[in-house]
Amino acid sequence: MPRPTTVHICSACGSSSARWHGRCPGCQAWNTLVEERLPAPAARSARGRSGAGGGTARKPVRLADVSTAQLPRLATGIGELDRVLGGGLVPGSLVLLGGSPGIGKSTLTNMALGNLAAAGRRTLYVSGEESPAQIRLRAERLTPSAGEGGALAVPVLAETDLETVLATLESERPEVCVIDSVQTLHDPQLSGAPGSVGQVREVAGRIMQVAKAAEIAVLLVGHVTKEGALAGPRVLEHLVDCVLQFEGERERTYRTLRALKNRFGSTNEAGVFEMRQNGLVEVLDASARFVAEATGKPGSVVLAAMEGTRPLLVEVQALVSPSELVPPRRVVNGLDRNRLALVLAVLGRHAGVGVGSADVFLNVVGGVRVEEPGADLAIALAVASASRGVALRAAGGSGPVACFGELGLTGELRSTAHPNRRLSEAAKFGLRAVISPQTAPTLRAALSAVLGAQTPERAVA
Ligand code: TYD
Ligand code: MG
Repeated sequence: MPRPTTVHICSACGSSSARWHGRCPGCQAWNTLVEERLPAPAARSARGRSGAGGGTARKPVRLADVSTAQLPRLATGIGELDRVLGGGLVPGSLVLLGGSPGIGKSTLTNMALGNLAAAGRRTLYVSGEESPAQIRLRAERLTPSAGEGGALAVPVLAETDLETVLATLESERPEVCVIDSVQTLHDPQLSGAPGSVGQVREVAGRIMQVAKAAEIAVLLVGHVTKEGALAGPRVLEHLVDCVLQFEGERERTYRTLRALKNRFGSTNEAGVFEMRQNGLVEVLDASARFVAEATGKPGSVVLAAMEGTRPLLVEVQALVSPSELVPPRRVVNGLDRNRLALVLAVLGRHAGVGVGSADVFLNVVGGVRVEEPGADLAIALAVASASRGVALRAAGGSGPVACFGELGLTGELRSTAHPNRRLSEAAKFGLRAVISPQTAPTLRAALSAVLGAQTPERAVA
């Protein structure tokens, strides 16, 4: 009988078993066994010995003696992507690009490789999902006029076998390689299906070894569903140098790119794109568009948000309508559900706006996601305005009202990062009325500034 080459390790208690079990024989936890390759026999016998084993001691280096020569970056030619990466791809680094299916990961990576190829870099696009013909069709769409020099110059490999991909990487030695996607490659030595935790970990780990040795910058594409149900790419976050999240609503055209982890740059940056007929276009004037579209009707307010270090004006809309349901609906798009719950509680308790028997729908227009506490005040103003059916108007100001600020549990407004950048962005786009912790100390004061003296003394609900 051939020796088994893999073992199943419990991710909760670490006990190992030759076969897969639904329930760990060690700790009785369900669904925790993950298949892993056994180390090669030589390595195993060395590890088995007691004491120092078979390793060779090395001399540690003093930090002061470590050279810090700036790593040259590979510019992808997509300004927003380069900025989120911290100035381009670092040679030999491993970047995970996660996002739900159809969001535009293949489009983005194709465009980046096309630009790199046009700049004379050696590139490789490995696809386990599409045939070369399909990839060519997309490349033609992306570069209607660029011709042979851009996206069409990128060599492609349609392959799902990990060993073949690794061998090709070693022989081709590209400077930049895209693996689309990490869930479609598989190591035939593991019995798990492609995309299973064991496979994804093995695939990424082996690719990393080759990439570091050959100084290949690798962009691993990974599908993540909205609920994060497909555990796949999440297990790689500790392994890779940089985790990028590409998000947005598939039906809408706006997409945001964020860094969740970056060993070579800040995780504060975000890029905004629009999906067009000919690929993704960087949106540099997002604020202007969102402000121009803002309705200024009851339930609408402009939020002066921060996307990393850049201010961004977005419209937040709320609809409050009487409900038959217990508990009533709370539907949120683009904002944190828990923040809405908190803001509704503060509104009811400290500002006399009770929506306990009404459905509340909340939306950030354009499919943008805002994840910062500075959005609290916008949620509160939009809901209060919707629940009253009165549009927000500031004294002396005309046009949409802008705001930002975090809400404290006692009804006070708390300051948020970069107030001046937010204010100057609002001023730049002609929004004169800005409600912020600087202009109103409490939520009640903010409400009376934009809704007049219509705030009752006690909460309804
Ligand atoms: P794709 O990059 O294939 O998504 P992913 O790799 O993340 O699954 O692109 C998804 C959608 O984008 C697809 O439904 C078609 C659309 N699209 C455009 O609108 N314009 C384009 O130029 C391209 C290439 C795609
Ligand atoms: Mg794709």
